[in-house]
Amino acid sequence: MLSEKMNEALNVQANRELYSSYLYLSMSYYFESIKMSGFASWMRVQAGEELVHTLKMLDYVAEAGGRARMMAVEAPRFSWDSPEQAFQHVWDHERMVTGLIHALMGVAISEKDGATKNFLQWYVDEQVEEEESSDAVLSKARAAGNDVSRLQAADRELGQRRFKFPRGFEIFPNLAMLK
Ligand code: FEO
Repeated sequence: MLSEKMNEALNVQANRELYSSYLYLSMSYYFESIKMSGFASWMRVQAGEELVHTLKMLDYVAEAGGRARMMAVEAPRFSWDSPEQAFQHVWDHERMVTGLIHALMGVAISEKDGATKNFLQWYVDEQVEEEESSDAVLSKARAAGNDVSRLQAADRELGQRRFKFPRGFEIFPNLAMLK
């Protein structure tokens, strides 16, 4: 059974994960607007992953006897000055999220909640991957700068990314159907 404090902290983090999804969708449409469909597709996959992060956390709250509560989602930024600026934003955002996950782990430890601590390890590991991939895309965007042909090559390359559900997790069935 989750403590009230743990329950609330998980709900708040789920809201931040949903905001992340919304932010990357906003970036995806920004890239569509400047005709960079590969970058747009990469961002859409990223938005899908953040939706998985959201639902996985809310499902855990429900399964652990807590109550998943939806909160208002902040409106993300709408536009960026360049692909490099947008990818820098991804890099900054992912580092901020890593800090939030570590703080959440701190709540699990202070609440002596071993089950939630184990559950959150998945997010800790996921953030290592998210930081690596944001490093990689920022480096590509930086290297391309304003060089149109290099930007187009990076756009084609990032457009190859495909969405995959994490093992054992699907978005659409509800919890009862998964049992
Ligand atoms: Fe779910 Fe990219 O943090």
